[in-house]
Amino acid sequence: MKVSKKILKIKKLKSKKKLVCLTAYSKPISKILDRYCDIILVGDSVATAFYGMKNTKSISLDTMINHAMAVKKAIHESTFVFDMPFNTYRNIKEAKKNAKKILKRTHCDAVKLESNGKNFVVIKNLVKSGIPVMGHIGYTPQYKKTFKPQGLKKNEARKLIYEAEQIEKAGAFSIVLECISPKVAKKITEKIKIPTIGIGSSNLCDGQILVTDDLIGLSGFYPKFVKKYLDLEKIIEKTIKRFKEDVRKGKFPNKTNTY
Ligand code: KIV
Repeated sequence: MKVSKKILKIKKLKSKKKLVCLTAYSKPISKILDRYCDIILVGDSVATAFYGMKNTKSISLDTMINHAMAVKKAIHESTFVFDMPFNTYRNIKEAKKNAKKILKRTHCDAVKLESNGKNFVVIKNLVKSGIPVMGHIGYTPQYKKTFKPQGLKKNEARKLIYEAEQIEKAGAFSIVLECISPKVAKKITEKIKIPTIGIGSSNLCDGQILVTDDLIGLSGFYPKFVKKYLDLEKIIEKTIKRFKEDVRKGKFPNKTNTY
């Protein structure tokens, strides 16, 4: 099956332009991101950042599809990637069935799968059946119990490089490197021909991704690798406080807000 223009464009950008990637869970956010991002991801981080769940494992496929349908409404330019949630791609049959459902309902351009170090054959079969795949290695929240930077030990570094190579060989069009040491991220970026998208993996990757809610200060989760560009929580709080004061004092609604 033909690879879409958007996917080819992302692949061609390697080493030419740093890829700008962010997450979106709603139409108002994707409307803004579409003007600036190469890739918009409906991440399973919606579980923690939006629903306040303990981790990303409990979000259902249907809930994520609903978010993706809303996000898609405002995407015209960016490449739209859907993050397959936990336990939806345990074998080839399950992955194909769910990926086809995702594509049909959301009209996304690609799906993302976290690597468990073994599921390269799943990626290979999705790609073979015409479904573009983004890989994800390093700190993969669906499979790792506790947070820890990856690739600091020699054997870990070797394993990560092997994983990246296998994912490229399986036909993925790009790969997320999460919390990988700069040295290893650099090595992977140099070794493989598909773009690497870093999160907590230094500026030595081909592009960067962050959870938008972290970047705008709305998630309450700000690890070292997040740069909080805006404190939206504070801005919303001030606004709500003003509204409360206006209502209490009878200042809202005034004549202009009344029929
Ligand atoms: O779920 C997510 O938002 C992600 C990105 C952080 C890469 O997987």
